[in-house]
Amino acid sequence: MTEFKIEPSERIKRLPPYLFGRLNALKLEKRQQQIDIIDLGMGNPSDPTPQVIVDKLCEAARDPRNQRYSASRGIFNLRKEVAIKYAKKYNVELDPNSEVLACIGSKEGFSHLCLAMLGPGDTVIVADPAFPIHIYAVALAGANVVTVPLGNTQESLNIIKEVCEKHFPRPKMMILNFPHNPTAMTLDDISYFETVVDIARKFNIAVIHDFAYGDTCFDGYKAPSFLSVKGAKDVGVEFSTLSKAYNMAGWRIGFAAGNKQMIEALATIKGYYDYGIFQAAQIAAIIAMRHCENDMLEQNKKYAMRRDVVCECLSRVGWQVEKPRASMFVWARVPDEQLKGKGTIDFAMDLVENANVVVSPGRAFGENGEGFMRIALVENENRLRQAFRNIKKYIQKG
Ligand SMILES: Cc1ncc(COP(=O)(O)O)c(C=O)c1O
Repeated sequence: MTEFKIEPSERIKRLPPYLFGRLNALKLEKRQQQIDIIDLGMGNPSDPTPQVIVDKLCEAARDPRNQRYSASRGIFNLRKEVAIKYAKKYNVELDPNSEVLACIGSKEGFSHLCLAMLGPGDTVIVADPAFPIHIYAVALAGANVVTVPLGNTQESLNIIKEVCEKHFPRPKMMILNFPHNPTAMTLDDISYFETVVDIARKFNIAVIHDFAYGDTCFDGYKAPSFLSVKGAKDVGVEFSTLSKAYNMAGWRIGFAAGNKQMIEALATIKGYYDYGIFQAAQIAAIIAMRHCENDMLEQNKKYAMRRDVVCECLSRVGWQVEKPRASMFVWARVPDEQLKGKGTIDFAMDLVENANVVVSPGRAFGENGEGFMRIALVENENRLRQAFRNIKKYIQKG
């Protein structure tokens, strides 16, 4: 009798190794031993969703009309609210019907847009380091990734231009992300995006801008929207989310906005795959966008305070850091004498084992992340200080 064998698809086999796997397993093992682990690994907001949003969800959930399948691309009033926000905050005009779509968290929308736009033989430009789904979604769609060093200057765009000129087959798409995860890198103004639009037009390359941290800014900084650049809607889309700024990560509500053809392609694939977000959650999301600007600003103040604490603690452990002005992360370089020839993945394992602290190893975000650690600002100031006391003690023991 032949052996019965179940094999995953070639698509699954194309995925690069999941470099957080060992770290997550160790964290779980420690937690099962009832050890108090301070988890600064994932950008998973720990503060509650504003009460008015939760109240609206409860009220809307009781209405049988909201208990049915919803619209895959999101209810009109939610899409309209996104258009209103873009008009108010970025002076960008969007048609809620053809230029805005709600997705089940921006990660789902991003991944399905890659599936809708890409296939075998296609190439996509992604910066290194990168938020891992920016690589995985391309791989899952059957396309190839060409990486460029992450940068926010015109010089860094010259490298992208060169790849567009010399790479064959010519890249079909580029993926951008400012404020950036994991590095918290930001743009000073829209000039970077203006050049991106020029490059995109010249080489016929679609653009996806991941704007997940667009609302999570401090010290008066305002992150520019890709869509605020003239011609951006001709070449690309921007993803935003309620996960971070409104502490709604578990609600799974994100948006794609911009280029009609790309929005239509995403709507088509989603129309086959899903029935939309729970309608009561969509109604509550309207309340979030309409009435919770102040909650968002208060949350940003909290992140800024935690950032200050982390930067102060980092100087005591000797890790080099540039104070970020956006995102919910601090990106710090670990001195070689502390790494002692180890990679950051092993160093992060040591920190869980010996300091009971989880931070994300830079290497897990790409080769250029090696030597760095990403610290998520998801614990209160006391816990953050405790984490770095633990780390310092471990480092000093040598
Ligand atoms: C850069 C970036 N994009 C997208 C996401 C996913 O957001 P969502 O909860 O909307 O799927 C995250 C979450 O960590 C992120 O850091």
